[in-house]
Amino acid sequence: MAIATKSSIAFLLISSLLLAPYLSVSEATVDAPVPIVSGLSWTFYQNSCPTLEFIVRNYLMSVFSTDIGQAAGLLRLHFHDCFVQGCDASVLLDGSASGPGEQQAPPNLSLRARAFEIIDELRNRIENTCGRVVSCSDIVALAARDSVYLSGGPYYGVPLGRRDGLTFATLNVTLQNLPPPTANASTILSMLATKNFDPTDVVALSGGHTIGLSHCTSFTGRLYPTQDPTMDQTFANNLKVICPTTNSTNTTVLDIRSPNIFDNKYYVDLMNRQGLFTSDQDLYTNSTTRGIVTSFALNQSLFFEKFAVAMIKMGQLSVLTGNNGEIRANCSVRNAGNKSYLASAVEELPVEEARSEF
Ligand code: HEM
Ligand SMILES: *[C@@H]1O[C@H](CO)[C@@H](O)[C@H](O)[C@H]1NC(C)=O
Ligand SMILES: *[C@@H]1O[C@H](CO)[C@@H](O)[C@H](O)[C@H]1NC(C)=O
Ligand SMILES: *[C@@H]1O[C@H](CO)[C@@H](O)[C@H](O)[C@H]1NC(C)=O
Ligand SMILES: *[C@@H]1O[C@H](CO)[C@@H](O)[C@H](O)[C@H]1NC(C)=O
Ligand SMILES: *[C@@H]1O[C@H](CO)[C@@H](O)[C@H](O)[C@H]1NC(C)=O
Ligand SMILES: *[C@@H]1O[C@H](CO)[C@@H](O)[C@H](O)[C@H]1NC(C)=O
Ligand SMILES: *[C@@H]1O[C@H](CO)[C@@H](O)[C@H](O)[C@H]1NC(C)=O
Ligand SMILES: *[C@@H]1O[C@H](CO)[C@@H](O)[C@H](O)[C@H]1NC(C)=O
Ligand SMILES: *[C@@H]1O[C@H](CO)[C@@H](O)[C@H](O)[C@H]1NC(C)=O
Repeated sequence: MAIATKSSIAFLLISSLLLAPYLSVSEATVDAPVPIVSGLSWTFYQNSCPTLEFIVRNYLMSVFSTDIGQAAGLLRLHFHDCFVQGCDASVLLDGSASGPGEQQAPPNLSLRARAFEIIDELRNRIENTCGRVVSCSDIVALAARDSVYLSGGPYYGVPLGRRDGLTFATLNVTLQNLPPPTANASTILSMLATKNFDPTDVVALSGGHTIGLSHCTSFTGRLYPTQDPTMDQTFANNLKVICPTTNSTNTTVLDIRSPNIFDNKYYVDLMNRQGLFTSDQDLYTNSTTRGIVTSFALNQSLFFEKFAVAMIKMGQLSVLTGNNGEIRANCSVRNAGNKSYLASAVEELPVEEARSEF
């Protein structure tokens, strides 16, 4: 299955050159065979919102031209959305039905506030052009793909047609589904195996850590009270300057070689014992995954291909399609919780009307 057309790539390259010549854009297009779940399609918004992908890409190019760091925030948002209760935009919901929900779980506390705003801004732009037809979960998936691509990574097609969830994810469900950075390879492999990811997928997805930042508290357990012996000594010394105590509020880059470029240097870091988290470094320590790390460090095209395959898989985890879920009018709240939406929906039937087109 061809995942990207030549003309869409030509548009990407030309518009990238015109509008953001300093962004590092690779020419890699991944043409990978990945099964698509029923209800999603490559052409879902072809009639109802043909300019969807251009709107997303052009807006993100303008955001990234002043702050490429936001690409990492958007990529991580998609990962958190999909791993917890499926790619249903539950990660975007404010508050919860009762008690703390997904947003209150420790992993959320370091999601970038700006990433949530960018999704809202994209949603507003899309609604202005196409009406309320595109789900927040599809917007998150497209934003993650363009974040990868506009940072220098592979371009891959995103099957669309996700619907936004009606249920909050509980704190426990969130914690059970997002592995902690202290986990070893064995734990990461078995947690991700429950979602049908094989070791190649796991190593490839972890390559998302080729861009972005971490807070000290996510890794100072490897520095204090005793230093993790698998960590390179110079790297450890530098981290101790950045994070003088276990609870330091500082941040540092995930990939010291090329922190803002989506490339295969993360795997080179691991081979040099400069992985930031145990969950990263143990992929090289453990013999089950070590060879995969090495192969990605030696061959960036291979990494890009496997990453794209794993992302398309991740983007389809427990998706809602067809008549399930809804198209939210505000990514932070369910339509049922929005009195003005209910009032307008009676008059305009916007969701059903839009859906009858496909
Ligand atoms: C395999 C298990 C994973 C673990 C244990 C993990 C853990 C973490 C942690 C602890 C942080 C730093 C949070 C902070 O302290 O601010 C982080 C950041 C990040 N993660 Fe992961 N992660 C995993 C998988 C993934 C996947 C699958 C992706 C995407 C494909 C991803 C993309 C990112 C990105 C881009 C950042 C930087 C975010 C930013 O700069 O705002 N991670 N991850
Ligand atoms: C979850 O993270 C987002 C982004 O930082 C933030 O807007 C939201 O308030 C957080 N939720 C809680 C309860 O901290
Ligand atoms: C959540 O998990 C904690 C500890 O793992 C447990 O004590 C608690 O009962 C769980 N709560 C729910 C609602 O499942
Ligand atoms: C990995 O971590 C788990 C949970 O902490 C532990 O039970 C297991 O022994 C560890 N495995 C290895 C090979 O270190
Ligand atoms: C490596 O991971 C495998 C698969 O999860 C596990 O069985 C093994 O114990 C791990 N080996 C080491 C040395 O951690
Ligand atoms: C934060 O890290 C920077 C290096 O990235 C370091 O120069 C600075 O001293 C650190 N700040 C604190 C408060 O530790
Ligand atoms: C941070 O840790 C230091 C010791 O490492 C401790 O003295 C201090 O009270 C801690 N601060 C907070 C806010 O927890
Ligand atoms: C690198 O990986 C690509 C993609 O799988 C493959 O086509 C190519 O032959 C590999 N290159 C080398 C030198 O092994
Ligand atoms: C979306 O919902 C949030 C949370 O209820 C609210 O704060 C925000 O103002 C809403 N946005 C718009 C454009 O109505
Ligand atoms: C409620 O729905 C309307 C559309 O009918 C939307 O413009 C508004 O942002 C929503 N407000 C909240 C708080 O969700």
